[in-house]
Amino acid sequence: MALLSKIKDLANQFQEEMVATRRYLHQHPEVSYKEFETTKFIKSKLDDLGIPYDSPLETGCVGVLKGGKPSDRVIALRADIDALPMNEEGDFKKEFFSQNQGAAHCCGHDAHMSNLLGVAKILTELKDELEGTVLLVFQPGEEKLPGGGRLLCETGYLQDKKVDAIYGLHTSPSHKPGTIATKAGSLMGSPDEFEAEIIGKGGHAARPHEAIDPIVMAAQFITAAQTVVSRSVDPTEPAVVTIGKVEGGTAHNVIPEKVNILGTVRTLNKETATLISERLEALLKGIAEGAGGSYTFNFNKGYPAVINTPDETENVLSAVKALFGEESAIEMERPIMAGEDFAFYQEHFPGAFFFVGSGSEESDSTYVWHHPRYNVDDRFFQTAAPLMASLALKA
Ligand code: NI
Repeated sequence: MALLSKIKDLANQFQEEMVATRRYLHQHPEVSYKEFETTKFIKSKLDDLGIPYDSPLETGCVGVLKGGKPSDRVIALRADIDALPMNEEGDFKKEFFSQNQGAAHCCGHDAHMSNLLGVAKILTELKDELEGTVLLVFQPGEEKLPGGGRLLCETGYLQDKKVDAIYGLHTSPSHKPGTIATKAGSLMGSPDEFEAEIIGKGGHAARPHEAIDPIVMAAQFITAAQTVVSRSVDPTEPAVVTIGKVEGGTAHNVIPEKVNILGTVRTLNKETATLISERLEALLKGIAEGAGGSYTFNFNKGYPAVINTPDETENVLSAVKALFGEESAIEMERPIMAGEDFAFYQEHFPGAFFFVGSGSEESDSTYVWHHPRYNVDDRFFQTAAPLMASLALKA
């Protein structure tokens, strides 16, 4: 219990600094894989703390914090560091608006970074109580395929370090400060993309028998695609097929050569994604060939689903209860279908991802992720930092 109070006291002591760091990073956002200044900033903060780091990728870095109690235990704590390619709005954050045109921290990654730097500071203070090694993973490119998490896993860096468990968090505008939400098993969906080209034969609108009309084929495909989830996927399995863009034709009296269709597929596992991909292509093939046309179909795998291991999820929930009381821990009943590249780490190591409440009316921070007015309530740090520190300290 004494250790928990120490952790909370330190988080309280470092609150102003975490807020100031977040505001600084908010003013200097950099988009995916271009986080050069951000990386320099993080490294200088780690230097100040005397924490050595490695640079397995061009941007981002991994701080290596060794505890005073020798042990083989290796815990990784991950924060993503990239901003979004957009401009921001919002009265509440005007004084620390982005100074980089076309880039903005509208997904809270500024808060994730300053939180992990705060955690590094807490753990440095409590080094003597720390067992084994803590890896502070500042990961680039969460917002853009192929995903910084994937690239980092491909270097084998974390595998060489023999990571026992990894934890990651995200600000949550739909939860109040002081609460955290997570669940064991599927937490977030796998977002995949597809692109279909339906190729016919152009011609005069009044002589359809001499043409092969790709618009009619596209209409049939769009309707048939709706049956994939309703007729081919197990009804107890969550899945989404959405067509977001249809493009073809130039005039009311011309049958075009082709129609392009873009869509997204959201699932909670690879098997369902593969099934949907195969069914979409089979329907497309049948429709195109039946009409005498042809097609191309590309299915681009996005991030896998975020699936939390039971033990690590339990560690998160029990740490929250010990730190802040039962009512602070929210066990979610259902997953959400948004994606997160934290999923790549979970293909290699046991791990848990969780949402930390950051939304309140007072700080105008209830806008959804990626909204131009997205903001984070400063109280986020008082839940996030003690929780992450306590997971590292196994407190
Ligand atoms: Ni995000």
